[in-house]
Amino acid sequence: NGSFSIPKTVVLVGLMGAGKTCIGKKLAQELDLPFVDADVEIEKAAGCSIAEIFEEHGEAYFRDGERRVIQRLLAGPVQILSTGGGAFMDAITRETIKEQGISLWLRADLDVLVERTSRRNHRPLLQNGNHKEILARLIDERYPVYAEAEITTDSAEGSAEITLQRVLAALK
Ligand code: S3P
Repeated sequence: NGSFSIPKTVVLVGLMGAGKTCIGKKLAQELDLPFVDADVEIEKAAGCSIAEIFEEHGEAYFRDGERRVIQRLLAGPVQILSTGGGAFMDAITRETIKEQGISLWLRADLDVLVERTSRRNHRPLLQNGNHKEILARLIDERYPVYAEAEITTDSAEGSAEITLQRVLAALK
């Protein structure tokens, strides 16, 4: 199915619940490229879950590990890389992604994010306080920075297939 070639690793950025992992996997399959999830790689390197890393060592420690993992992955072969929602907010990680990858922001509306993140709540940043308020604040803080991504694709509510087609069209 690899009907066109991708010169650099495609790095999916965006908020929790935007569909980065879901769309990333489908995109990888479609383009016949490996898929890798930065959060999973961080957990493997740490030998524990992200929730545990936040709990035991705090967010700054997590961001350090995230930066190193993303640098390592971007130094490797071309693939589809899904990143945690905070990765692109880190100035160093963001520069690495912009220089060495094709950054793609998967943008979604607040209501979609609230719906998707409430199904299974394992995310440390959504533990304390009103879920919708936290996401609304993160949208305010982060969307202006995510907008620096090379490509922006709107996540189609309810259809991963439509979102995938939009991403493919944007990459062509
Ligand atoms: C975070 C998002 C999470 C994970 C961590 C922090 C964030 O990834 O990296 O909980 O700062 O937005 P997902 O975006 O894959 O949920």
